[in-house]
Amino acid sequence: MEISDKQHAAERAVEYIKNGMILGIGSGSTVNYMLKQLARRIEVEGIQIKGIPASKKSEKLANELGIPLTTFAEHSHIDLAIDGADEIDEQLHLSKGGGGSLVREKMVDSIADYFIVIAGADKLVKKLGAFPLPVEVVPFGWEVTEKRLQKLGCKTSLRYQEDKTFISDNGNYIIDCQFETIAEPEKLHQEIKSLLGVVETGIFANMADEVIISEQGNLRSMKR
Ligand code: 5RP
Repeated sequence: MEISDKQHAAERAVEYIKNGMILGIGSGSTVNYMLKQLARRIEVEGIQIKGIPASKKSEKLANELGIPLTTFAEHSHIDLAIDGADEIDEQLHLSKGGGGSLVREKMVDSIADYFIVIAGADKLVKKLGAFPLPVEVVPFGWEVTEKRLQKLGCKTSLRYQEDKTFISDNGNYIIDCQFETIAEPEKLHQEIKSLLGVVETGIFANMADEVIISEQGNLRSMKR
């Protein structure tokens, strides 16, 4: 049976998981493949790991698959984090948050000793920006925060899901910001972060240690 590029990259990343690790579990459809393969390794090889999930969706799937989970209250350190991305540029800067989990993903991915991104080649771009940049904002006064974001030169839209305002796992809103291209990801991240009402941006600059890409079944790895 032919498997998708997402699944292929995800299954390769599972080979990096070692017995005893605390694993940061990102979120999204690529990560779901990672979780399914990890569950197989736990069943077949009996490896013992504990995961810290970056979204309620990942937590639910991990529980369904019988993957042991833990929290930051018990472990303040993560050995390895594996996560997906919406865009990956040539410097391995990422745009994330298509699934709305960017805050928890950034907390989990940033604390890991080693952070691996898994994706199909369709996520590779020269410069970030074609995918609207998700920005998590506090609901109170979001209209004011949106105007502040627009002043940075983007078109904005408040994220909806099934005709209702999308609410993140942290109880916040997401404003998707369409910049033409993001020339300097770290600089733009800092500018957005300095705005009152902003919780976090989906720019993950200088964070990925390794990106595993599958392109029509061929795997490749890029390191920072
Ligand atoms: C969720 C994310 C995901 O990692 C990103 O959207 C990629 O998702 P998928 O693996 O489904 O393509 O950042 O907030």
